[in-house]
Amino acid sequence: MAQQELDHLSGQTTTGHEWDGLKELNTPLPKWWLYVFYVCIVWAIGYWFVYPSWPLVSDYTKGFFGPSMRSAAIADYEGGNAARLANASGLADAPLDKIKSTPAFLEFAMANGKAAFGDNCAPCHGSGATGGPGFPNLQDDDWMWGGKLEDIYQTIRFGIRSGNDKMRDMTMPNFGKDGILTKEQVADVATYVMSLSDTAVKGTDSGKQLFADNCASCHGEDAKGNIEMGAPNLTDKIWLYGSGVAAVEVQVNQPKHGVMPAWEGRLDPITIKSLAVYIHSLGGGK
Ligand code: HEC
Ligand code: HEC
Repeated sequence: MAQQELDHLSGQTTTGHEWDGLKELNTPLPKWWLYVFYVCIVWAIGYWFVYPSWPLVSDYTKGFFGPSMRSAAIADYEGGNAARLANASGLADAPLDKIKSTPAFLEFAMANGKAAFGDNCAPCHGSGATGGPGFPNLQDDDWMWGGKLEDIYQTIRFGIRSGNDKMRDMTMPNFGKDGILTKEQVADVATYVMSLSDTAVKGTDSGKQLFADNCASCHGEDAKGNIEMGAPNLTDKIWLYGSGVAAVEVQVNQPKHGVMPAWEGRLDPITIKSLAVYIHSLGGGK
């Protein structure tokens, strides 16, 4: 039977364990340490109930008040957003040309517009805004719907064939598919259209007449386009849907109708203004 005894050297009792004459001193943890330890255990139990803690098979215990890092992060983000908008106070009510002429507004709008372009527009218009087949280049000075600050602003707000009440809308008829023109007439007018920008292609008088009768109302007598109609200039070498007689024939036969989403309601008003200012400044603004 183990026997506790007093150790004379240290003045402490032993635990009573003994191995071949070696005895173990009993040195208990300091009381303060022990109490802190007990308090931690009690605290941990409380913590389990209050905070998310135990993993379950497909979920986890949520805690009484349902705190989450996610909602904290969202609140943080929204706080940051509010601060950002406060920074731009006055910008929301400023007319577009005032934003352009006020250096502090302009600086903010350019940075904000550039960031918003990368997030929302680059997937279609390309990260450099140079577009691609079906998606117009926003860097050049060739505009279907107008390159003035106000025009660009309106296009961004309401979109093109977007379904928005105030969208820009104009549909080129299916000349070939709906039998308005015969196959030969489609080829004839397409050849005439290509001859306007490509000297290697020779157009005919009948093609010119077909154009005047069927196309000039939207694209203009001189085929230079009309921003009221969203009808592109057909005399430059800039093609949304591809260059060449064959590509033009395809368009005349059954036109594509590009869709650009409306951003009002999706982006805040300051961001939409910023985008208009940013796009206008890319080099092609009028
Ligand atoms: C889903 C693809 C898509 C996204 C995203 C998109 N656009 Fe467009 N955008 C288009 C298409 C397609 C057209 C051409 C519509 C047509 O054929 O008339 C267009 C046209 C435009 C035009 C008119 C060009 C002209 O010549 O008049 C502007 C300006 C424009 N987009 C700006 C933006 C901005 C700014 C954003 C981001 C907030 C954006 N777009 C996001 C597809 C998109
Ligand atoms: C009701 C108006 C309207 C009429 C009439 C019309 N167009 Fe168009 N056309 C448009 C619009 C709008 C677009 C732009 C389509 C888009 O953005 O998706 C377009 C686009 C085109 C394009 C594509 C240009 C490019 O850059 O790729 C060609 C080519 C074209 N039209 C040729 C013609 C010809 C030829 C005729 C006559 C046979 C004609 N159009 C009649 C409105 C019209």
